[in-house]
Amino acid sequence: MCGIFAYYGEKKNAPELVIEGLKNLEYRGYDSWGIAYKTPTEIIIHKEIGKIGDIKTKDLELGESGVAMAHSRWATHGGVTKANAHPHFSENKEIVLIHNGIFENYSEVKKDLIKKGHKFVSQTDTEVLAHLIEQHTRKHSFEDSVKLAVKEIEGRYAIVVMKKDEDKIIAARKGSPLIIGVGKTHGEYFIASDIPAFLKHTNKVIYLDDNQICVIENRKINFYDNATNEEIKKRIIEIDLDIESSEKGEFEHFMMKEIMEQKETLNRAINQDPKTIEQVAKAIESAEDTYFVGCGTAGKAAMVGAYLFAKISKKQIRFVFGSEFQNYKEFINKKTLIVCVSQSGETADTLEAIEIAKEKGAKVAAIVNVESSTIARTADMVIPIKAGPEIGVASTKATTSQLAILTMLAYACDGGVEIAKQLLIRTASQINDMLNPRYAEHIKKIANKLKDIESMYIIGRGANFPMALECAIKLQEVSYIHAEGFAGGELKHGPLALITKNTPVIALVANDDCRKEILSNAQEVKARGGYIIGVSPTNEEVFDFWIRVPDTGETSPIVNIIPVQILAYQLAVLRQNDPDKPRNLAKSVTVK
Ligand code: AGP
Ligand code: GLU
Repeated sequence: MCGIFAYYGEKKNAPELVIEGLKNLEYRGYDSWGIAYKTPTEIIIHKEIGKIGDIKTKDLELGESGVAMAHSRWATHGGVTKANAHPHFSENKEIVLIHNGIFENYSEVKKDLIKKGHKFVSQTDTEVLAHLIEQHTRKHSFEDSVKLAVKEIEGRYAIVVMKKDEDKIIAARKGSPLIIGVGKTHGEYFIASDIPAFLKHTNKVIYLDDNQICVIENRKINFYDNATNEEIKKRIIEIDLDIESSEKGEFEHFMMKEIMEQKETLNRAINQDPKTIEQVAKAIESAEDTYFVGCGTAGKAAMVGAYLFAKISKKQIRFVFGSEFQNYKEFINKKTLIVCVSQSGETADTLEAIEIAKEKGAKVAAIVNVESSTIARTADMVIPIKAGPEIGVASTKATTSQLAILTMLAYACDGGVEIAKQLLIRTASQINDMLNPRYAEHIKKIANKLKDIESMYIIGRGANFPMALECAIKLQEVSYIHAEGFAGGELKHGPLALITKNTPVIALVANDDCRKEILSNAQEVKARGGYIIGVSPTNEEVFDFWIRVPDTGETSPIVNIIPVQILAYQLAVLRQNDPDKPRNLAKSVTVK
């Protein structure tokens, strides 16, 4: 989590430039922000609590500088205070650092540094690293001190650091993304956690890989392998991303823009070279065991995938959350395949599963949106979902595209990738018809009714059970209403006790072999006073409120989630929450 953006070059408005660029990374963390820039005599730091998006640089009275760094924080160690916001100074205030990740062994290092006379002003793990670098500078050069200090870090990190009196900026990474933008003028460089920070200035990038360090000095850039200290050559890649796709356009929020984009995104997922899908399908067929792995929403999509495989290709796939994968370590070997599903391609828990799989010699396939991400670059096989940048923290369009790819994959294992394609093309055109302003207005009626409730529940069966869990995530993360998803059949084993008069329950109904049973479950709720909102192709007697979805057969999880995405969005707006930046969350979860 957290956004990092730094600039080194000839422009003299670096402080303003990094603030503006950081606004495009705010989806990564937004509890506080800060910048540091160099003047000929000192390093100036400015920090604030809250979101950077609302800041007008003119009001900050920033000085001129050609070197600056900015950070938006997602707190892990220490509360959301100005003192804990980054950048952090070292003891002598000569070294300044921004950091993404967790310095897991920081407390031992801190104790040691305190013994050596260091005093700390924040509760963060990050500040300890700034002091540790300074401690090394007592015997080594600044550059060597950074190299030595990062070797001592246990955990994942991305850092950018600079020192007073040195025309140098150093960046290092392990497990958290850092991308270098190569500017248009000689010796101009950008360092960021994600490309939108500098896309306005350049589309030429260099990806820093794990355990690599980049040193920019005297208008030159050099890369080193931190284990061997040997210099390495890196490739400059021209990327094909347009600025508009990372902007809100006519919409008030990214979340609604991205929900509406589902009119086109599914087609982009489907219309790609089927060979990529067939290659992964073959790997699934020849593997002794296949695990689908993901977290949060991507995890729910992966879970749907396991249901689709059972039904369509009659193949058993295990679904495991990234954070739980280590418990399956003993069963992973050279004949295992793991298929990771991730929007960002940077989720630490999913990356950890990949590391375990690779250690055991297993093959890794990835279904990802960000094609330049660490997961995409580490996997042996990649299926891109081509949903375009997803900025809203709540995943919407990426989910339905992941589900489309998983459907294609399940059919491909049965030799029927073309059948899947036709089915999905039909689904995409039905979604196109469904997503009109009248539809959103209809859902708004139910949002108005639900806006003050405390709890709601979602039920589904079969592939719509994981979708019920996903509906709950959507509602929780942006509306902050307590929402829980259940398998319809599980209600009677406990959760039914939660139903009282007018408790809202969303029933995800598909025209499939679970239809009668899920409707019976809805009846059980209704008999206890519950209020049933049916998401279904047909209106049913048991529904108090009906949200119509097209009858799309096997792809019902894709169409069923969309109205709940809209409902969650509308509840967020009615409850005056920011749907794009829900409290306590971040888009890219790069900590474990
Ligand atoms: C989705 O709405 C959530 N923000 C979250 O659960 C997300 O899906 C999860 O963190 C996984 O992210 P990834 O797809 O980028 O790996
Ligand atoms: N662990 C650091 C902190 O709590 C960095 C968090 C982040 O990645 O934003 O400040």
